Amino acid sequence: MRIAVIGVGRIGRIHAENLRALPEVEEVVLADVVPEVARSVADQLQVSAADDLSSLLASGLDGCVIASSTSAHAEQLETVMRAGVPAFCEKPVARDLAGAVTLAELERETGVPVQVGFQRRFDAGYRRVRDAVVGGELGTVHLLRAVTHDQAPPPAAYLAASGGIFRDCSIHDLDVVRFVTGQEAVTVSAAGGNKGERLFVEADDVDTAAAILTMADGTLVLLSATRYNGAGHDVRLEVTGSLGALAVGLDQSLALDSAEPGVTLTHGPRHWSFLDRFLPAYAAELEAFVAMIGGAASPCTVRDALQAQRLAEACDLSRRRGAPVRLQEIPDTR
Ligand SMILES: NC(=O)c1ccc[n+]([C@@H]2O[C@H](COP(=O)([O-])OP(=O)(O)OC[C@H]3O[C@@H](n4cnc5c(N)ncnc54)[C@H](O)[C@@H]3O)[C@@H](O)[C@H]2O)c1
Repeated sequence: MRIAVIGVGRIGRIHAENLRALPEVEEVVLADVVPEVARSVADQLQVSAADDLSSLLASGLDGCVIASSTSAHAEQLETVMRAGVPAFCEKPVARDLAGAVTLAELERETGVPVQVGFQRRFDAGYRRVRDAVVGGELGTVHLLRAVTHDQAPPPAAYLAASGGIFRDCSIHDLDVVRFVTGQEAVTVSAAGGNKGERLFVEADDVDTAAAILTMADGTLVLLSATRYNGAGHDVRLEVTGSLGALAVGLDQSLALDSAEPGVTLTHGPRHWSFLDRFLPAYAAELEAFVAMIGGAASPCTVRDALQAQRLAEACDLSRRRGAPVRLQEIPDTR
């Protein structure tokens, strides 16, 4: 297979390395809006570089990974889909909801397979919890608690273009809650707080947020996110059911200390960002992408990404309104 990676910054470089390691992939070709970046990363990884997306499509591709900045995703994904080339696109597929709706409709019209980069779907713990829920091991599931607590805020420039904490950070929880429960949310009620640096207020954002989701079958989901967890990068999901409770992220690297005398919960190095926390999942999602090119179903479609984006939109609206929002208020068609 000949696969391109467009945009080789933090995550694009990881995707290129993971592709290079797969036996089915004969050639990895990199492109970036800054050509020297593509050439330099290509030299380091000993793969090839090309000028831009259109020259890559003209030269023939089996698949294309879009890992450029968020503002470029929608146009690039549309171009790749219209060329009939299977795509892997980093989240979000589009900066705004209307763009995501358009791409979901294009996915349906063209039938071109697209996988969106929600890597938690490939994390061993999340998969184990999903299997337990689907297999009935936890009995009737009543409650989920989803946590994404970053160690420190991202740069101010990133924040200004991120779309806010729900669209940028909690979006992973919003996707994985659908993945684990197989349910859609009916209502959300959200709040936000700002006790950190002024840059959040200046970006019309909050540094800490919480939401309650009510799923279609009545399951409640409590979700929290903060940009300030001095203990490290804390990503967890707890699922509580009538027959048991199971947690993702309760391992040696847990970024949380116990208040109980004599108890030490953690024994290994903590994670400091999603990049080290999810390294195995980033590799597994690219394996799945190659399988999708080979004919397997997409493990996370544009329609899935649109549903997560609608939830993020609903959370943001609820926080601003100070009132619950029904998901049906957020459009999913043009
Ligand atoms: N799924 C995840 O866990 C995860 C993690 C990190 C980033 N992301 C997403 O991946 C995307 C990239 O994030 P990043 O942290 O790697 O950013 P980054 O700024 O480190 O890298 C982006 C790269 O894309 C290039 N670029 C920008 N516009 C381009 C264009 N039009 N054509 C080609 N290249 C272009 C930039 O020059 C840069 O090299 C973002 O959309 C982000 O939301 C997802």
